Amino acid sequence: MEIIIAKNYRELSRLAAEAVIRQIRRKPRTVLGLPTGHTPIELYHDLVAAYQTKKISFRYVSTFNLDEYVGLNQTDPRGYHSYMRKNLFSKVDLKPENEHILDGRASNVKKECARFEAQLRKVGGIDLLILGIGKDGHIGFNEPGSKINSKTRTVKLSESTRRANAKYFGSAAKVPRRALTMGIGTIMQAKKIILLAHGKEKAAIVKQALSGKISAKIPASFLRQHRNLIVILDKAAASKLK
Ligand code: F6R
Repeated sequence: MEIIIAKNYRELSRLAAEAVIRQIRRKPRTVLGLPTGHTPIELYHDLVAAYQTKKISFRYVSTFNLDEYVGLNQTDPRGYHSYMRKNLFSKVDLKPENEHILDGRASNVKKECARFEAQLRKVGGIDLLILGIGKDGHIGFNEPGSKINSKTRTVKLSESTRRANAKYFGSAAKVPRRALTMGIGTIMQAKKIILLAHGKEKAAIVKQALSGKISAKIPASFLRQHRNLIVILDKAAASKLK
């Protein structure tokens, strides 16, 4: 595990974007694993800028998103299809057939998760996976208690996660209770992982995930067993590390 402490959120985003840009230049057919949420907003902004200035093209890239809420359709502005369209997909030359996001409205959820895993196998797995971290230690929507070998599946969101995401729905009560998520086993198979955390509200969980016991209580702690993990923190998120 390599830990990089950036001066601030801007630098964190720039470093993450540079890693993605290097990866795509080295391997134009890169398979990216992508998060949503607040943390990667400026990373996506930087990737769009890199595309606009012709530093990279997404023409051969494939993307697999980590998660989606159950029950939201693909045009719902609170859902992750809309988020990705707004922040990245509509602004770069990624081919729609190469974008993969779980369908929260699928009538057969098991089949949908199996389909997602099969698509991932077909492209040879994720080359570079970007992750954020929830205040309860979740990665994707793998909440505390998730097993290290878990596959893509439906999960119940924790109260902490529903509170954290209340801002997008008006209140915690309106946040869907369930989501589909890439499993931890699926995440651990990525060839390279970059975990991002910024802000002081992540400092306590970053400390537990990176220096506490490795356990299902803090799903992000499992990442320490990955052979190619880079953690990029800003100073505030790193402030409780020794
Ligand atoms: C979202 C995802 C989540 C977020 C986490 C942090 O696709 O995978 O694990 O990364 O909830 O969210 P923010 O960045 O909003 O603090």
